[in-house]
Amino acid sequence: MNTFISKELYQREQKIYFTRHLLKWNELVNKRQMPWKGEKDPYKIWLSEIILQQTRVEQGWAYYEKFIKAFPSIQKLAKAADEKVFKLWEGLGYYSRCKNLLATARKISTEYKGKFPDSYEEIVALKGVGPYTAAAIASFAYNLPYAVVDGNVMRVLSRYFGMETPVDSTQGKKIFQQIAADCLPGNKAGIYNQAIMDFGATVCKPQNPICKECLLKKKCIAFGKGKVSELPVKEKSIQKKERWFYFLVIQIKDKVYVKKREGKDVWENLYEYVTLEIQSQMDAATFIKSPVFKKSIGSRTFEIKSISKIYRQLLSHQTIYGRFITITVSKPLKHLKGYVLADKNDIKQFAFPRLINNWHEDGHKDSVLF
Ligand code: ADE
Repeated sequence: MNTFISKELYQREQKIYFTRHLLKWNELVNKRQMPWKGEKDPYKIWLSEIILQQTRVEQGWAYYEKFIKAFPSIQKLAKAADEKVFKLWEGLGYYSRCKNLLATARKISTEYKGKFPDSYEEIVALKGVGPYTAAAIASFAYNLPYAVVDGNVMRVLSRYFGMETPVDSTQGKKIFQQIAADCLPGNKAGIYNQAIMDFGATVCKPQNPICKECLLKKKCIAFGKGKVSELPVKEKSIQKKERWFYFLVIQIKDKVYVKKREGKDVWENLYEYVTLEIQSQMDAATFIKSPVFKKSIGSRTFEIKSISKIYRQLLSHQTIYGRFITITVSKPLKHLKGYVLADKNDIKQFAFPRLINNWHEDGHKDSVLF
């Protein structure tokens, strides 16, 4: 650092250099192409941002195109049947996004007469839209001066500015928000926001960042101090909860019991078989003798047809393990509340969680058959 200039002046120059070189990188080097890039229709931007909230670009891409094809306008989405939209969302996970998507499309269709709101305050008030998504929509569609700040942006900023404040602390979030706002060029908010996202995804990556080719490395503090791999700092590492499910696929002739999941838990609004959650891992033989299993079958005679291997689904805060037991009964189980008997041939029309679909796709390949 030049010792003759104040810290404030140095930091201001550091920020100016950042913005200028990020935009230069974007113009000369950034080759990233995505279907929503440069899009000006707020509906399409909003849709892409909701899809990308908890989904990688590579996975979200096809879903975005499917949705735009099925629902080219917000009114079309607003008018669609819930089941159709959930089916299209199948595989993306975190279904509260899909529920909010529909609620927001309908709100805009009625309260805003189909015209997407154009102020940050109205956008951030929409269901399923937080500050990051609102900043993305406001800047991409209307060039409003709001900086996007998420884990990727904080990683870039923490390295370049050599910030050791934990990104997941209250103080960290405030500081990074301020730095991001300071770096935002008022007249190029949309271009800048997309550029920093692309830069974080392709150059300043979490692992193996490409510092050698980085246009910002001359003033990057982490690079200068050899601390790139130590930044960003995180206060807490998330401890994932483990959950164990047995799915009873109870069949009567050509029908099978299914139910739509309700309540505030994983897989809300998706379908499932007769689902029993247990406290910890339990082998199938023990489970079949357990009171919880006996209670769900009742006094009916039954036959076990197959027991699957253990399936796993990783969610952001929990890991779910599940196993499928296919059972036949000769008469309906009246005590099963909320379940319906669906035709086995129609099962593909229901939206199921990924874990259950993985079992469907395996076609009982790893099951022990009886
Ligand atoms: N993640 C969230 N929004 C994005 C966007 N517009 N482009 C790439 N990745 C994103």
